[in-house]
Amino acid sequence: SPAPLIDPFGRAITYVRVSVTDRCDFRCVYCMSEDMAFLPKADILSLEELDRLCSSFVALGTRKLRLTGGEPLVRRNIMELIRSLGRHVASGALEELTLTTNGSQLAKYADDLRAAGVRRINVSVDTLDPDRFAAITRWGRLAQVLDGLEAARAAGLEVKINAVALKGVNDQELDPMLAWCGEKGFDLTLIEVMPLGDMDGNGGGAVREEQFLSLRDVRADLEKRWTLVDSTHRTGGPARYVTVRETGCRLGFITPMTHNFCEACNRVRVTCTGTMYMCLGQEDAADLRAPLRASTDDTMLHQAIRDAITRKPKGHDFIIGRDRGPAVGRHMSVTGG
Ligand code: GTP
Ligand code: 5AD
Ligand code: SF4
Repeated sequence: SPAPLIDPFGRAITYVRVSVTDRCDFRCVYCMSEDMAFLPKADILSLEELDRLCSSFVALGTRKLRLTGGEPLVRRNIMELIRSLGRHVASGALEELTLTTNGSQLAKYADDLRAAGVRRINVSVDTLDPDRFAAITRWGRLAQVLDGLEAARAAGLEVKINAVALKGVNDQELDPMLAWCGEKGFDLTLIEVMPLGDMDGNGGGAVREEQFLSLRDVRADLEKRWTLVDSTHRTGGPARYVTVRETGCRLGFITPMTHNFCEACNRVRVTCTGTMYMCLGQEDAADLRAPLRASTDDTMLHQAIRDAITRKPKGHDFIIGRDRGPAVGRHMSVTGG
């Protein structure tokens, strides 16, 4: 495989997260504002352009590709792109082709995903209470997601559940969620909420700060009732894992706020408009759409990617409890987490 991209801090960039749409059929309070204005179609990369973009990264040494959104599976004809990208799994160029999804469309797509070369998916489920689920997602139906998860299991897809830990929202529910994952054979990853989005107090950064829970504290509490055994398992993402002895399942912790994992960062993000973010927690971005559209030859695009990598920062700029706004004004739905 080709030599990987190396950033100024010596980190090999081998993991790319591509948001294929800004749209979502849910409207999670911590991820999108309620009156989210969607992008004009002309700004959005076509499926062919997304394929070229992803394939360029693969040519430059990317080993893991994750499609995100918005909700990736609401993009029209998304399976055409995923099937096409599956060629990089078949050739061995990609170690992993995967998705982070809200699960709402899995009943429809699970078999196709598996056939296209996807082996594992991450599904965001913050609560198992239908009413609370509807409140967090603003109108999502939990039952639809649970059906999707059953379809994924039946299709032989490995499932990891992602839950953002939110004080006063789901912190009383982590035991039942662990038990449920144990029953279903899913791994579970808890995520510290990050202060992204506006500070208007209306689903924005200020609320995030009030809801922040340190996963160090969460872990200490869980250990009163569960045996958590440190594990060396790594996926190439930022989670640190333990094995839950009582269930045999893995539990991951993603701790952007309390434990800085940036020194091992291996990833960049590209949005559905071809904007490349060198860090989730920084504003700096590079435009890949212009070089993509300027020529059918990939030389300019490859150069733009290489140039962007030279600007990758050492780490993010999230600080809990400071009195100015969040480090990053854009919502999570723009960069796909
Ligand atoms: P695995 O391949 O299963 O390890 O997935 P992953 O953790 O790489 O991807 P996933 O989409 O499940 O990420 C879960 C969440 O972790 C994201 O939505 C972000 O909230 C957070 N996260 C992932 N990568 C980063 C990162 O580089 N920086 C920060 N600050 N947060 C990240
Ligand atoms: N902080 C932490 N995680 C977030 N996610 C969305 N918004 C935030 C935030 N502000 C997570 C979702 C999903 C992933 C794509 O990003 O729960 O698992
Ligand atoms: Fe990488 Fe930025 Fe995430 Fe740190 S915050 S791990 S540098 S993307």
